[in-house]
Amino acid sequence: MTTALPLPLEHLPTPSLLVDVDRMQANIERVAADLDQAGVRLRPHVKTSKCVEVARRQLAAGATGLTCSTPAEVELLAGSGFQDLLWAHLPVGATKVGFAVTAARDHGLTVALDSVEAAKPLSVEALAAGVEVGFLLEVNTGQARAGVEPGLAVLRAQQLLALGGLRMRGVMTHEGHLSTYGDDRDALTAAARGCGETLAAVAADIRSAGLDCEIVSVGSTPGLTSSPYADGVNEARPGTYVYFDANQVRLGSASFDDCALTVLTRVVSTQRPGTAITDAGLKAMSADSLAPDRGAGVVCGADGTPLPDIEFWTANEEHGFLRGPGVADLRVGDLLRVIPNHACGTVNMWSREYAVRAGVAHEQWEISARH
Ligand SMILES: Cc1ncc(COP(=O)(O)O)c(C=O)c1O
Repeated sequence: MTTALPLPLEHLPTPSLLVDVDRMQANIERVAADLDQAGVRLRPHVKTSKCVEVARRQLAAGATGLTCSTPAEVELLAGSGFQDLLWAHLPVGATKVGFAVTAARDHGLTVALDSVEAAKPLSVEALAAGVEVGFLLEVNTGQARAGVEPGLAVLRAQQLLALGGLRMRGVMTHEGHLSTYGDDRDALTAAARGCGETLAAVAADIRSAGLDCEIVSVGSTPGLTSSPYADGVNEARPGTYVYFDANQVRLGSASFDDCALTVLTRVVSTQRPGTAITDAGLKAMSADSLAPDRGAGVVCGADGTPLPDIEFWTANEEHGFLRGPGVADLRVGDLLRVIPNHACGTVNMWSREYAVRAGVAHEQWEISARH
């Protein structure tokens, strides 16, 4: 639905995706300033916003490059003229190999690699095209997803460079396992610092072997206040920090006042006592929660203040089910907002979002590169 703006929230269609611009800007500026003070470069991950307006603000605040997870995100950013893009994923399969070589030639794209199997076809195509493809060696510091084990990193770097057509710009890790620490923030912080230290030690070993290793890049929002601060780390790639979300509040990465992304919804039915039904369900937000009993998101009033006595306990595709003592006060037509469990998954469900200030939507921003 296209809407003439500005409009107060009461006049927006529901459900709608809202970005609180002041909160987002505060997140962007605070993180950029903290990392700058520590001498760590910032390369935000755009998979969270998939939005050029947001990326532009991150760069204006001091980010030196951007991180992508898909070719579509690379195309979006390269097409908008942004430089120094990292595709922090493994370019496997003929289509992705061809894309990586072309984007390296046209835009200086850097990719992630962790194995000879993944690197070989890329090397062959890069040599044939006369292009040198920059890469970061991905290292496993605990997530156990992709990434070479730290003890094999020097050997792997030597193997990849021997293939030809590839230039190692440095090392990277994603500390994704930090999201499993629940509310034990001290343990999370110690683990995050350990990830940074492990990666820095790998970089030092690679340099001792006589190889270039300029970039030492960590990346996660739960670890944002610790892993980039390990000695020897010089780049951070947080994504979720731009909006934060309910999962990050539960992990102690942020407070509800930092959460910039909400889904606007209305109560549409109160036929059964103790339950209220809204028009925002599973197709309006990503319910994936770090804890199985946390429901589909955090219910707030129309001003964005959490309502602790109302629980968003389950959802169908287009219906949300609310329960709890506060539901008795809800009436059909009431406007609510929901802080999603997972901002990145929620954004990926929408084609546009309203940029909101002080309860008024001023602009609509495109969400692109969803697949
Ligand atoms: C490779 C990589 N880097 C950075 C990030 C950013 O992490 P977060 O969403 O915790 O900010 C991710 C998230 O999935 C990732 O996969």
